[in-house]
Amino acid sequence: MSQPIDITLTRALPKVELHAHLTGSISRECLHQIWLQKKTKDPAFEMDDPMTAIPKAADGSIDVFSFFPIFDKYIYALVSDEKSIRFATTAVLQDFQDDGVRYLELRTTPRAIPAVGINEEDYVAIVLQAMSDYALSNERLHAKLILSIDRKNTLGEAFKVVHLALKYRHLGIVGIDLCGNPARRPISHLQAAFAEAHAQGLPITLHFAEIAQTDSHELEEMLSWNPQRLGHVIHVPEELRATIREKKLGLELCLSCNVLTGLSEGGFAAHHFGEWWRAGVPVALSTDDVGIFEASLSGEYLLAARHFGLGREQLLELSKGAVDTIFGGQEEKERMLGLIEEFWPRA
Ligand code: IMP
Ligand code: ZN
Repeated sequence: MSQPIDITLTRALPKVELHAHLTGSISRECLHQIWLQKKTKDPAFEMDDPMTAIPKAADGSIDVFSFFPIFDKYIYALVSDEKSIRFATTAVLQDFQDDGVRYLELRTTPRAIPAVGINEEDYVAIVLQAMSDYALSNERLHAKLILSIDRKNTLGEAFKVVHLALKYRHLGIVGIDLCGNPARRPISHLQAAFAEAHAQGLPITLHFAEIAQTDSHELEEMLSWNPQRLGHVIHVPEELRATIREKKLGLELCLSCNVLTGLSEGGFAAHHFGEWWRAGVPVALSTDDVGIFEASLSGEYLLAARHFGLGREQLLELSKGAVDTIFGGQEEKERMLGLIEEFWPRA
């Protein structure tokens, strides 16, 4: 008898998560614990409880304008020292593992916290240490790190990110990302940093076409930076769709994030996942910011199955296609393919 496609099944399915921002993946509960620890230590600590301070995406109260300030005005001020970064990183890894993620490429933007003497390199080292400590007692999840360049970075800051990625590559850094508020333009000044990453063989993923643009110049420019994967890929003119299909770039698609913030219109059934999936482009369903959107990866697989009529064979194909786009190398690919086959042997 065939298994029903429900949340129990999509949770048990061994999955890869390739587009998850570390700070955005911290659950409200975890942020609340950090808040409580700080409040207990210092009664004069004045921040609001994250349970009420962070708006709920499900209420429709987050859009592209209100989204970025949640980090800049709130979460960065709360997760602001070594202890809380370590605590949050460990909790994020545990949440992904509990959701059936077996290979994770977490991404984060190196950030300095001068008030406690942390520079960008210290930040990266703290995150990597927490990841390596977690790996010691959790063999089921293999986690790698991607470093993000923010659209608001200067070229000097962007180069620093690339150099940190190269310096700590041996500890599990597998790529470079471009993230940040998509309304922030231009980004041409960052080209040389991405050229350096490419020249050094560091795979590149870019947040791409999150919002509609009047011309396609920026998108064409981004495609010339040699990305291997693209995130979101919502508002893409037809001629560039053809390029993406021809290059078979891996697409990191985030259904709940796009629908809940109104980045894509028409609800789940109209999400561009359907179009890219039918075009045969490899798609990695991803959560983006599970802490904010409260939409797990297993839930995303279930949404895709329900709204696009995916059965067992299609879910297998989708999962394996995502594995093919990971940055972590052949051995990790084979491990994941083995886990998927073991879970769901071909009939
Ligand atoms: P962090 O890099 O670990 O600090 O994760 C949070 C950061 O990721 C935010 O400050 C944003 O710059 C970036 N980010 C999270 N979600 C998105 C998105 O949907 N689009 C672009 N950037 C994002
Ligand atoms: Zn993202």
